[in-house]
Amino acid sequence: MEEILESVEWLKARGIESAEVGIILGTGLHGLAQHIEVEKEFNYSVIPHFPIATVEYHFGKLIYGTLGGKKVLACQGRFHHYEGYSMQQVVHPVRVMRMLGVKFMLLSNAAGALNPEFKKGSLMVIEDHINLQTENPLRGENADELGPRFPDMSQPYSYHLNGLIKEIAAEKGIQVQEGVYISVPGPNLETRAEYRFLRMIGGDAVGMSTVPEVIACNHMGLPCCCISVLTDECDPQKLSPVSIEEIIQTAKQAEPALTQLYQALIEKI
Ligand code: HPA
Repeated sequence: MEEILESVEWLKARGIESAEVGIILGTGLHGLAQHIEVEKEFNYSVIPHFPIATVEYHFGKLIYGTLGGKKVLACQGRFHHYEGYSMQQVVHPVRVMRMLGVKFMLLSNAAGALNPEFKKGSLMVIEDHINLQTENPLRGENADELGPRFPDMSQPYSYHLNGLIKEIAAEKGIQVQEGVYISVPGPNLETRAEYRFLRMIGGDAVGMSTVPEVIACNHMGLPCCCISVLTDECDPQKLSPVSIEEIIQTAKQAEPALTQLYQALIEKI
């Protein structure tokens, strides 16, 4: 709690008053940031208690500005547990943004498609998740100022936000799927047997992020949503090796559609 408040005070002292919408941009998905009318931006490395993004393809920056007529705070680059950060560090930016007043959290990520009908390069709105990451950001003494000991997870992704995304997608002719995201610890990709298992237990997509942040949002009663860009097809019958470069390339290609959806969503909420 102390570290969260120190980050918040540091940012407030530098002119970040409050924001309405928080955004977290995942791997290869930082294009949305180019549409923000930037007022302030800070490298994570200068903000007290912000971990430094170690994965070189992540831009570690917190941006404050206006998008879709609203004040937003956007994290360009996120922290993953596999990088060696604690789960508390992974969710630190989400908690700081909440303390700075955000009322909605919009997340994005790159994920592998488990559902054989979902194709590489398409978008999936996360409807629900299965958490297979063994660590949890809420482990340990509960910070009652943030939320309850046993947060409800019956509607982890806001029906309201997901409904708006689907409406906007239909208006704009952007195809979006809806499905269940499974989070795994990473950093290795999955074996064929693991992909088969993940599909069998009900997954439509798999990735190594997002769920810790979504748990932190639900803990704080902060409505959130997430769009996954499906960067590879995880078909155990015909699995070919995927490289991180390929994943980033596919994410970049699909990114403009994600940007359009989120920009319109921010205007509507
Ligand atoms: N597995 C896990 N994480 C991922 C994948 C995948 O196939 N694709 C993109 N992120």
